[in-house]
Amino acid sequence: MARSLYICLFFLFISSTSKLITSYPLSTKSRWIVDEKGQRVKLACVNWPAHLQPTVAEGLSKQPLDSISKKIVSMGFNCVRLTWPLDLMTNDTLALKVTVKQSFESLKLFEDVLGIQTHNPKILNLPLLNAFQEVVSNLGQNGVMVILDNHLTTPGWCCGENDLDAFFGYPNFDPKVWANGLSKMATLFKSATNVVGVSLRNEPRGARDYPDLWFRHMPEGAEAVHAANPKLLVILSGIDFDTNLSFLRDRFFNVSFTDKLVFELHWYSFSDGRDSWRKHNSNDFCAKIITKVTRNGGFLVGRGFPLMLTEFGTEESGRDISGNRYMNCLVAWAAQNDLDWAVWALTGDYYLRTGKTDMVETFGILDANWKDVRNATYLQQLSGIQYPFKGPGLQSKNAIFHPLSGLCVTHNPSDKLPTLRLGPCPKADTSTFNPNEGILWINKMCVEAPNVAGQKVKLGVGTKCSKLGQIAATKMHLAFKTSNGLLLCLDVDERDNSVVANPCKCLTKDASCDPASQWFKVL
Ligand SMILES: *[C@@H]1O[C@H](CO)[C@@H](O)[C@H](O)[C@H]1NC(C)=O
Ligand SMILES: *[C@@H]1O[C@H](CO)[C@@H](O)[C@H](O)[C@H]1NC(C)=O
Ligand SMILES: *[C@@H]1O[C@H](CO)[C@@H](O)[C@H](O)[C@H]1NC(C)=O
Ligand SMILES: *[C@@H]1O[C@H](CO)[C@@H](O)[C@H](O)[C@H]1NC(C)=O
Repeated sequence: MARSLYICLFFLFISSTSKLITSYPLSTKSRWIVDEKGQRVKLACVNWPAHLQPTVAEGLSKQPLDSISKKIVSMGFNCVRLTWPLDLMTNDTLALKVTVKQSFESLKLFEDVLGIQTHNPKILNLPLLNAFQEVVSNLGQNGVMVILDNHLTTPGWCCGENDLDAFFGYPNFDPKVWANGLSKMATLFKSATNVVGVSLRNEPRGARDYPDLWFRHMPEGAEAVHAANPKLLVILSGIDFDTNLSFLRDRFFNVSFTDKLVFELHWYSFSDGRDSWRKHNSNDFCAKIITKVTRNGGFLVGRGFPLMLTEFGTEESGRDISGNRYMNCLVAWAAQNDLDWAVWALTGDYYLRTGKTDMVETFGILDANWKDVRNATYLQQLSGIQYPFKGPGLQSKNAIFHPLSGLCVTHNPSDKLPTLRLGPCPKADTSTFNPNEGILWINKMCVEAPNVAGQKVKLGVGTKCSKLGQIAATKMHLAFKTSNGLLLCLDVDERDNSVVANPCKCLTKDASCDPASQWFKVL
């Protein structure tokens, strides 16, 4: 009794101390975001829109704020990129005189008024700015970090080439007004420790979308935020809808402060040409697009800046072939670079988007009821990149990552002859693969590949290790030759997540098939 109690307490102790406790504020250390103790904090965020016409964080007419915050935590996210329109800071009438109720009523969204009354009566008669503060504060109570993203100027859906606020100097984007709004926002949350950063402006774009104006005005915004609240990370978008930061290659971004700058990049399947992924072989195209994304922003990691992938994601029904293929490639790349990120979006549905009420977000993590996960497979894929594999203060984890599932290779200790299977990355065995040696070591055993297609891959003590090669343009296929000269690739049997050997599929050129079940990224 006493002994088991002791063991019990011991485990309680272990689990409470091994849990990472973040001490704020955050700053940067080379390419990493770290906390006050210098330990890496990996931002695994979800975008929560609050910038559309009602200027209220979406979903609050469907579920209590606290339930949504808790759901965010239970899905493994540690942070929210909360979007806001500049007017919320620069138009006092909007911010302080219009209540949540009045805002919905002015848009004839009477059902949402009733919904808010039912689920979040506390905010119904609050001015819009105070309702926004309630959201930030509730996220804080639930231990969720917040990045405040200035998404556009006037409340509404974003973003098009011809918007009047597309770039600095456009009719509805006065750089002085903007810097002032950023400053006010940064000041407002000075004492909120969970507010860790401000993203200065979402997706600069348009005909005047060139680097000179960017270099002139971005520092003004950055300095305004830092002067108002020096604890915050200052997060900067690139041009061309935040897909292009390549101009930072040979030009220095000068600000008066250090250790706070983070760059952000967006990447959607349509950034690579509409429906292009479906028309190309995934190995060939993934390798090509990663070269482009690296040139356009990925290189910053090598220059000692954190790069955060602040928007990505796809339609989740599985029917968008381009989207599915892009997602597998993106997740592999994000894992390889162990990037910080924010997926688009939490949204189940929008109160009102481009004139349509209750519009479902097909990219949304939550269902239209704001309670259920829209697609558990999709969330599992993301869970693979929620976990920090390395970084200051962390024990590096060598793993073999399977981007399609978001799981890592591990072994099944209950098997008599251990076989390989997939499992959650945080608990997976240490796995190492040295391309020169060609042997995959898992938990001090080596992979012994079968001689026949379709069979499970076993682990052995080191006498019959198979020699594996990384093939195709992505180098993500782990291939070997059988004794009778057949080329097989490691694959996953999705019925039980066991690792099997199968004929290598769609290595190059062929666009009709998808190789992703055979993709393994060595981390
Ligand atoms: C400020 O907000 C109010 C309320 O939404 C709106 O009527 C007014 O036109 C806005 N003023 C400016 C200058 O945009
Ligand atoms: C990115 O921006 C730079 C600078 O304006 C431009 O030269 C380059 O062509 C752009 N890259 C792409 C892929 O559009
Ligand atoms: C930027 O900073 C560097 C180093 O401090 C300095 O040499 C350079 O002149 C600055 N450039 C501009 C445009 O201010
Ligand atoms: C979830 O995504 C998977 C993979 O793309 C797809 O096969 C499945 O049909 C989706 N499920 C739902 C409920 O949309």
